Amino acid sequence: MEIRGITRDEIELNVNGTRRPAVVCSSDTLLRVLREQLGLTGAKIGCENGDCGACTVIVDGVPIKSCLMLAVEAQGSTITTIEGLRDAPIQQAFIETFAFQCGYCTPGFIMLSHALINRYPDADEKVIQEWLQSNICRCTSYEEIGAAVRSVMGKGGGKSG
Ligand code: FES
Ligand code: FES
Repeated sequence: MEIRGITRDEIELNVNGTRRPAVVCSSDTLLRVLREQLGLTGAKIGCENGDCGACTVIVDGVPIKSCLMLAVEAQGSTITTIEGLRDAPIQQAFIETFAFQCGYCTPGFIMLSHALINRYPDADEKVIQEWLQSNICRCTSYEEIGAAVRSVMGKGGGKSG
């Protein structure tokens, strides 16, 4: 279909266990469609350049920076946003370790951490650090975020080093 001279397509996205229709241009990012059409504003707009990770969602079990994925590319995949997490242990762990201040980066870090814990529940410190380097927090020291991840993995004490 064409709206105001721009060709758009009807697509369907499988988000948080629900099939959601959307009308998109081929250039629309998954981030923009999640936020602006589906009302899922947990994924945040940061750099929109793949650097900060504020927009992280999980696609087929893999953490994805949704500003770098086109909505049309996400068809047929299983997408989970922060709104789709229900009492995931990492959420409580973030609270207990005070792993946030302003909170803007928090949904992205929680999605990144949730995927890490699911994929590598026995990850060593090197792997944890490598994964967490994917996202940026301007408030915390990162120590608390790492502590939250380690606490869910049962690596007592929480602190690194
Ligand atoms: S907004 Fe996607 S990586 Fe920064
Ligand atoms: S808590 Fe503010 S950017 Fe991370």
